[in-house]
Amino acid sequence: MERFDAVDIIRAKRDGGVLTDAQIDWVIDAYTRGVVAEEQMSALAMAIFLNGMNRHEIARWTTAMISSGERLNFASLPRPTADKHSTGGVGDKITLPLAPLVASFGVAVPQLSGRGLGHTGGTLDKLESIPGWRANLSNEEIYHELGYGCGAVICAAGAGLAPADKKLYALRDITGTVDCVPLIASSIMSKKIAEGTHSLTLDVKVGSGAFMKNIDKARELATTMVDLGTDAGVTTVALLTDMSVPLGRTVGNALEVREAVEVLAGGGPDDVVELTLALAREMLASAGQPDADVEAALRDGRAMDVWRRMIRAQGGDPDAVLPTSRFTHDVVAECDGVLEDMDALKVGVASWRLGAGRARKEDPVQAAAGIEIFAKPGERVHKGQKILTLHTDEEDRFPRALEALDGTLTIGDSPVAPRGSVVFERIAR
Ligand code: URA
Repeated sequence: MERFDAVDIIRAKRDGGVLTDAQIDWVIDAYTRGVVAEEQMSALAMAIFLNGMNRHEIARWTTAMISSGERLNFASLPRPTADKHSTGGVGDKITLPLAPLVASFGVAVPQLSGRGLGHTGGTLDKLESIPGWRANLSNEEIYHELGYGCGAVICAAGAGLAPADKKLYALRDITGTVDCVPLIASSIMSKKIAEGTHSLTLDVKVGSGAFMKNIDKARELATTMVDLGTDAGVTTVALLTDMSVPLGRTVGNALEVREAVEVLAGGGPDDVVELTLALAREMLASAGQPDADVEAALRDGRAMDVWRRMIRAQGGDPDAVLPTSRFTHDVVAECDGVLEDMDALKVGVASWRLGAGRARKEDPVQAAAGIEIFAKPGERVHKGQKILTLHTDEEDRFPRALEALDGTLTIGDSPVAPRGSVVFERIAR
């Protein structure tokens, strides 16, 4: 005999009520067991989307999702652990240089990552463009590599970690209930707390290419997650960062790996380097190394050494040639002037339509598809100058990708103020 009826819980939230601890514990557990039907959970998710949850409900919802599965425990590792999580963006390849950079200071980085869905890319999809690299590691392999190997793993989160979130996230994705602060905060933090990291740095994206389109919403999400992490004993800090234009000069799997390797070699675009360094400083400060010279570790090859070991440890060949696309198409400037805009969402959708992303979670992705960016907003361009190169293995994808870019590359006469720092704000408790 079940303790509650799902319909009563749906009605309570639909009418603006506050759910009790017992109702939340039951509904998450019963949903994981398949007793609460998908239709019922989708109605409840929509009621939460429309009426919200208070701080206590969010915390209880998060705890219930953690309890739906296993918890990893890194306490016995000989190194402190520091993790980072990004809320997702376009051209966001930061995890790739960041994990080895932080690990080069003797801090273990358990980067349990996901695949891309919709216009935002997934870290695992990017790394899978490296021949031989595998995303699935056993818990034993993760512990060994973190404690006694190169100190960094970027791998798929196992099925045992917060299974309630896995089901719920897939449901939210098809019911228009993703971009909701209580549901995003509990989804991300349940996985991160279950993962067992000592400290967590959150990269909360703001702008057209992010879930949070304005800074107030991003601040609310960041504060909610910092509170959840801190209350669970995880040292948690958030940076609010710009996602109104794509990050760096590449969008798409193999193209982004190439750019990440440039950063590890001491080069790479300014915004990618700036954000990598800012997040590395936060992670190392949380792990007890506030004065670490992170720039030196990129310059002198220490971070690159860890990258090469990390890729090899997961079966990849760091020297392998990355796949290239069968077809390319250049987008050129229509007149002389200053490039005024490049909307991150539109570029993300175009890259997705070229084959870099997936519409359903079982779809394959093209390793070589994506977009190279040769001019960013604020830069002067000349008529006929190449601004973008689109890459795909299927030529018939170009028209829809170009449609997505329609109107985003505006060129004007007046100078555009230089873009400021990619980091807007820091939130800690
Ligand atoms: N990433 C997650 O893991 N969950 C969300 O709800 C949104 C982004």
